[in-house]
Order: sequence, then C-alpha cells, then structure tokens
Amino acid sequence: MKNILVTGGLGYIGSHTVIALQQAGFNVYIIDDLSNSQLEVWEKITAITGVQPIYYNIDLKDYNAVSVFFQSHKIDGIIHFAAYKAVGESVAKPLMYYRNNLLGLMNVLEAMEENQLDNFIFSSSCTVYGQADTMPINEMTPLKRPESPYGNTKKVGEEIIEDFIKITDKNAISLRYFNPVGSESKGLLGDLQIIPNNLMPYILQTAVGIRESLGVFGNDYETRDGTAVRDYIDVNDLADAHVKAIQRLLDGKNKSKLEFFNLGSGTGSTVLEIVTAFEQANNLKINYEIKPRRAGDIVQAYADYSFAKSELDWEPKTPLQISMQTAWKFQQQLDKVIE
Ligand code: UFG
Repeated sequence: MKNILVTGGLGYIGSHTVIALQQAGFNVYIIDDLSNSQLEVWEKITAITGVQPIYYNIDLKDYNAVSVFFQSHKIDGIIHFAAYKAVGESVAKPLMYYRNNLLGLMNVLEAMEENQLDNFIFSSSCTVYGQADTMPINEMTPLKRPESPYGNTKKVGEEIIEDFIKITDKNAISLRYFNPVGSESKGLLGDLQIIPNNLMPYILQTAVGIRESLGVFGNDYETRDGTAVRDYIDVNDLADAHVKAIQRLLDGKNKSKLEFFNLGSGTGSTVLEIVTAFEQANNLKINYEIKPRRAGDIVQAYADYSFAKSELDWEPKTPLQISMQTAWKFQQQLDKVIE
C-alpha cells in the first residue's frame, strides 16, 4: 500500500481527495492546522470510507514540525492543498497570504529534499491565466498576473516548484482548477464558508434563508445574459483527477518533471444560469438582485481539459444538476449540525 500525504486534507477539495485516495487503495496521512476546516471532517471521512486516515495538526510554517513528520513516516507521494483561499481577504492581508501559502509550500519541498522523497501534486488555480484573451483556456494559454495576492500565491507557487524541480530529481504535477462545486453523495463534506467568498456558498445561504437575497455582481458583461461566465467543476471529479495524477507520478508515466493540467468541465455557465440550474435541480426559488460588478472579476473563464483527458485519462463525469443537488444536501446537513 502506498502512503500519500494530503496537506489541507480536511478542507473542501482535500477531504474529497482523501476519500477518493482511500477508495483507490492508498493509505492516507492528513496534515491540517484547522485554520479553515473542522476536526469533524476527519470523523466524516472515516464514516464515509470506513477507514480512519492518520491525522496530524501541524502548521506547515513550522519547519521543525514538518521535518519531524517526514522523518518519522515513509511517504510515497504528497498532495499539497494547505493554503488560504479567500480572494478578498488576500487583498486586505497580502503578507499573511504570501507567508502562509508560500512558506508552507517551501517547507514541504524542503522536507521532501531532506528526506529524499518524490512525487508532488500542487493545488493550483485557473486564476494563473487572469482574463485570458482566448477561450477555452488550455495549458498553452499565456499566464497573466493574477488579480489578487491569493491568485499570485498560486502563480508564484508554481514558479517556486519549477525552480526547485530544475535542481533536483523530483517530479511534480500542478493541477489548475476552475470553479469547484458540489459535495460527496451524502452531502457530508463541502465548502465550509461561514462568511462566503464564492457564488455557490452565497446561493446556498440564500436558499436556506441565512441571506435574504443573492447579489449578482454585474449584468452588463459581454456575455449571453450579461452576467460573468465561469467553469463549474464537480469536486468529486476534481478528487479523481488527483488520484490519477499521483498514480501517474508513482508509475513514472509523466512526460516531463513538471506537468500542468487544467481541470474544468469544459462548459462556461453564467451566474444566472447557475442560479437557474440550482433552482431546477432542487425545485426551489432563489431571490436575487443585480449589484454592481465586483472589483477584480474577470468576464469569462472556461477550460479546455483535453490535455488531462489524453494524458491523465480524466474527464468530468458529474452533471451540473447533480453538483447542485449534493451542494444543497451539504447545506441542509450543516443546518442539522447547527440545530
Ligand atoms: N458572484 C456573484 N455573487 C456572489 C458571488 C459571486 O454574482 O455573491 C459571481 C462572481 O462575480 C463571478 C462568479 O459569481 O462572476 C463566480 O465567483 P466566485 O467568487 O465563486 O469565483 P471566482 O471565479 O471569482 O473565483 C474563483 C475561485 C478563486 C480563484 C478564481 C480565479 O474561487 O479561488 O476563481 O481562478 F482565484
């Protein structure tokens, strides 16, 4: 059995990836400092798969703690999610974002080297493309400076990995996600945003009555209905891509020491199309009002995932309707916990 370390394994995409890894027969170690996650997620993972992953509360900024972990465990591959991810907060606290996201990354890479470990998967984002000039976005699309410090930690993170890979014998894959949505089928795990940053948590909190209405940020973009276009990809599909990526490295099938893959559904949806999809999938109504454009928002982004299809043998499988239903299940599950 191969041992995979998942940093940030109690977070949204991380927890779904832990499940997918366990179901694929990997032994999973989780490191998470609970800065944006809850310990109950660990129990929920165990309830879903019947296997308890080994969990450590380690702050990746603490190199000594990271080093001790790696010295005492035999790790075959690392999937590095642990990072802050709120775009607006990163604008207000850029140094906190650079310190956390980049120092954590560098400490893990350093410990890999110190312990002669290989096989690193990086959790990146389509934000590295900024507002791309052409759609859909493939991996050859030129990168632009991301709009936010958060986004820039992903771009600089990729550059750090690239420079590190050049002077070592290590192999890495950077996975650039588009907009993750949905939850595992029981709705036990999801995107826990008490104060939402993203569209889906705003829709969910409006549906459940925590918010009176959803603000739709701008209806004067040059798109089908004037609202901005994004590529919404199911989190379970994203999780599967991580399993395929780590397996590719373990099997030595990667074609270069550092590879990049776009992970999206391949379909662009407007904000209003997502609202309608949510309403139809769950048979309810969402109050919304048109608000001014949100600073820093791009007009459109959607993926060309053909490289992931040909090289990783990955493609998105979950229809948007199912993602909307599992997301709603997750919100209802949360309310049960709060009651
Ligand atoms: N939106 C609304 N109302 C809301 C929230 C969002 O209309 O209450 C709109 C946004 O303006 C945007 C779309 O919904 O047009 C999606 O917004 P999100 O905040 O959900 O997602 P973004 O595409 O802005 O951000 C995502 C990731 C970031 C990443 C960024 C760029 O969440 O981590 O893509 O890749 F940096």
